[in-house]
Amino acid sequence: MSNALKEYLVYCQSRVEKALEERLPSGQLLPQKLHQAMRYSVLDGGKRMRPMLTYCTGMALGIAPEVLDGPACAVEFIHVYSLIHDDLPAMDDDDLRRGKATCHVAFDEATAILAGDALQTLAFEILAHDPSMTTTPEGRLKMIIALAKASGSQGMVGGQAIDLQSVGTRLNLPELENMHIHKTGALIRASVNLATLAKADIDPVAATKLDHYAKCIGLSFQVKDDILDEESDTATLGKTQGKDKDNDKPTYPALLGLAGAKQKAQELHEKALDSLSVFGKEADLLRDLSLYIIQRTH
Ligand code: IPE
Ligand code: IPE
Ligand code: MG
Ligand code: MG
Ligand code: MG
Repeated sequence: MSNALKEYLVYCQSRVEKALEERLPSGQLLPQKLHQAMRYSVLDGGKRMRPMLTYCTGMALGIAPEVLDGPACAVEFIHVYSLIHDDLPAMDDDDLRRGKATCHVAFDEATAILAGDALQTLAFEILAHDPSMTTTPEGRLKMIIALAKASGSQGMVGGQAIDLQSVGTRLNLPELENMHIHKTGALIRASVNLATLAKADIDPVAATKLDHYAKCIGLSFQVKDDILDEESDTATLGKTQGKDKDNDKPTYPALLGLAGAKQKAQELHEKALDSLSVFGKEADLLRDLSLYIIQRTH
């Protein structure tokens, strides 16, 4: 990771931690258990990759981070909701997430379902009226539509449905790619697109190129997640290693082998860089992030 990226990530991480904390209901507010579960799952953990993408896209477009706190929190709240539900016994049945007990283990299953539900609606509430955003009402509406599409049955939730249906079956490459593009790619793409939507006068070519970049890294992110599940360890990952094999999930390493999956991740990184060729140095952080996504250790 370049020093410039490291510094900016540290800055954005502390920005987003504060922004998330401020937007979560207090654990003292009724119903306390629900609010405590929401705070437990959102705070103290996670790489915050999606907020980083929102801020770094803002950097490429000359948008100040202050006006992107709302969209950055909205994508992270949707992401955390997806993780809480992904870990439930009815889905991947995991007991470790971000180095601590999963929400349904630390609280209970009903509370985990409700915490996910509430984080999802909080994301849209933020886009609709977060006071720190300067986006026009029309821009906010476009953001709400983009995040709703990315999260719903034709986005993340649809991808999760394909994932669960595919357990024990052998998907071919286009089918596997389709599943990954939906379950993980859609929200990563939205993380970039919410920043482009914050700029009312955006050049349509720049917006298309950024969307293409996001599509490539959205897929490479899940390819790398599959690789890590196979070759990393539980302590480094903060989640149980080897779960994909245990659950008989279709993954890139299962289909292409580890070397083939790594090759695929590298190719996607190169495609992501190609998409940014119309940008100058202002997009260097996005270039660094793409490399980080395929080189990360957790
Ligand atoms: C894990 O996402 C789930 C996937 C979509 C692959 P992250 O690897 O971004 O998880 P956190 O937010 O850092 O915990
Ligand atoms: C999760 O994919 C995708 C979403 C949560 C939407 P995984 O099931 O591979 O994620 P991890 O490995 O549990 O984080
Ligand atoms: Mg899963
Ligand atoms: Mg999982
Ligand atoms: Mg995984």
